[in-house]
Amino acid sequence: MSSGEGYDITAFATTDKPGQFEEITYKTPPLKEDEVFIKILAGGVCHTDMLFMNKPGVILGHEPVGEIVDLGAGVRGHKKGDIVGWIFLRDACLDCKKCRSGYDSMCPYRVSFPEGNNNGFAHGAVCKAKFIFAIPECFTPREAAPLMCAGLTLFTALHIAQVPPTAHVAIVGIGGLGHLGIQFSRAWGCHVTAISHTPSKKEESLQFGAHEFLCSKDFTPEFIEQAPKFDYILNTVSVNLEWDNYMDLLDSNGSMFMLGIPEGPIQIHKVLPMIAHQKTLRGSVNGSRYVVDLMLEFAARHNIKPTIVDYPMTPEGISKAIKDNEDGSIRYRAVLTPQ
Ligand SMILES: NC(=O)c1ccc[n+]([C@@H]2O[C@H](COP(=O)([O-])OP(=O)(O)OC[C@H]3O[C@@H](n4cnc5c(N)ncnc54)[C@H](OP(=O)(O)O)[C@@H]3O)[C@@H](O)[C@H]2O)c1
Ligand SMILES: [Zn+2]
Ligand SMILES: [Zn+2]
Repeated sequence: MSSGEGYDITAFATTDKPGQFEEITYKTPPLKEDEVFIKILAGGVCHTDMLFMNKPGVILGHEPVGEIVDLGAGVRGHKKGDIVGWIFLRDACLDCKKCRSGYDSMCPYRVSFPEGNNNGFAHGAVCKAKFIFAIPECFTPREAAPLMCAGLTLFTALHIAQVPPTAHVAIVGIGGLGHLGIQFSRAWGCHVTAISHTPSKKEESLQFGAHEFLCSKDFTPEFIEQAPKFDYILNTVSVNLEWDNYMDLLDSNGSMFMLGIPEGPIQIHKVLPMIAHQKTLRGSVNGSRYVVDLMLEFAARHNIKPTIVDYPMTPEGISKAIKDNEDGSIRYRAVLTPQ
């Protein structure tokens, strides 16, 4: 990397072989007034990265954290040396009805990952200053990285639903999102149940703060009927499940959030009980700028931190992290560190 008319950035791009990456360098245009140049110090690997591996030349990674090394003349509120993170949302108009009401993540003019080059599998990035966030001092860059997508996604669901502390919440899928979801829901004050198809995750789920653990391999009609019912189910699983089981696990007026992105259409057969008990199936996406600051403050206050597996940010390191995630062997979030 060097300054001057722009910056030479080393990054790791997809190739025509899904799961394999190559080192590239590219030159950025000169820094604009409202931009910052960041040296990346850590980057989480999210399951969503894998959805974009099917075409070459894409720089993935949407949980980057780094240090500001240069900033445009118009940037306020940040200085050189600050540690910042950025999120899925890379730009938004900040002037439309959605932006003005705090929903910039749904702005029709937004730029979202993986568009743009300022993604996380790289040694540096140029970002608009309005879309970066100061990382609280209690977090190292590698601890903060998974908060920028995994943490934010879980926190956003709790926040937009205004989940009361009296609620019974179930987190389905104890991976990158799920293990932070347990911690956020517990700190929120809720009764938390972890639901996993991996029995060996029980002890760690309880350590993350779950009051109870259910193994989805035990699910039978009798088990579901007798199981405790939930006000909120936050599903973080990336495959199709027996969704009727989960709708049956909702209490009357309960909501199931689809946070995970299953492949293909999903099916719910038992529509009448859903109507009779006023159950809701809803989506929730990563998060808006206002919620990022709330999430970071909340995570710092409650000492919410990811459990990390480290990998070098090299083509081989990224491939290994992706492969281990696909194998389900990572407990609980892969984080890449530039070498
Ligand atoms: N809504 C959003 O804005 C948003 C943001 C980020 C990510 N996502 C999506 O959220 C999902 C989770 O992302 P992540 O990074 O947390 O992934 P992850 O670390 O791979 O965790 C997913 C978890 O799903 C469970 N799972 C995996 N395969 C399964 C199977 N065959 N049957 C049942 N359960 C299975 C596993 O938990 P157990 O072993 O405990 O069962 C696994 O740990 C992905 O689909 C991702 O694309 C959405
Ligand atoms: Zn993500
Ligand atoms: Zn807008």
